[in-house]
Amino acid sequence: MKDYKIAPSILSADFANLGKDVSDVVEAGADFIHFDVMDNHYVPNLTIGPLVCEALRNYGIKSIIDVHLMISPVDEIIPDFARAGANYITFHPEASKHVDRTIKLIKDNGCMPGIVLNPATNVSVLEYCLDQIDMVLLMSVNPGFAGQKFIESTYEKIIEVKEMIDAVNPKIRLEVDGGINLDNIGKVAECGANTFVAGSAIFNSDNYKKTISQMREIISKA
Ligand code: DX5
Ligand code: ZN
Repeated sequence: MKDYKIAPSILSADFANLGKDVSDVVEAGADFIHFDVMDNHYVPNLTIGPLVCEALRNYGIKSIIDVHLMISPVDEIIPDFARAGANYITFHPEASKHVDRTIKLIKDNGCMPGIVLNPATNVSVLEYCLDQIDMVLLMSVNPGFAGQKFIESTYEKIIEVKEMIDAVNPKIRLEVDGGINLDNIGKVAECGANTFVAGSAIFNSDNYKKTISQMREIISKA
């Protein structure tokens, strides 16, 4: 049995009722909470920071929180997210001047580091750091907004990165983010991903539990 994790992105949650909505999605079977941080600089949108992460912890959210930093610079905010209760912290290499230093900083703060590759970013950036990270996050849309269409070239990239991961450390999570829904999640799993971010497909559905169960059913056959 593969170790699949479904990670609803709170970008599509109800921000006026965030604690309740996140707790509902956890109750419905979410494994990780994907926490999208945008700064209106590295990406055009502006979202949430460590205060909101801490507020979710204080509300009683105990799930793994997977913080996706779409900000530049990266380093300054890492200790704040660690204190706020983050587990994974992933960042875009283009946004950090010293990728290796940022990875070490995340670890020194007790969190699990991950590298995020944009749709056009070459996988070669992983070559000298894959052995130091716990997650690779492949963007299947351009970062910045929920509800975009899955970019088809991601399938090939998943296969390529899965091979790299297996050669170094098969425990490294391979997460895919953007435009994942019931129609494509099976193929994403077949290509080798084991962690699935889905924002609008889950939070815009009428029944979180049903949608997450359907996703789990599909990937279990992949
Ligand atoms: C995009 C974010 C995603 C996004 C996913 O920049 O990183 O996590 O919220 O949303 P959907 O699943 O709607 O594409
Ligand atoms: Zn994300």
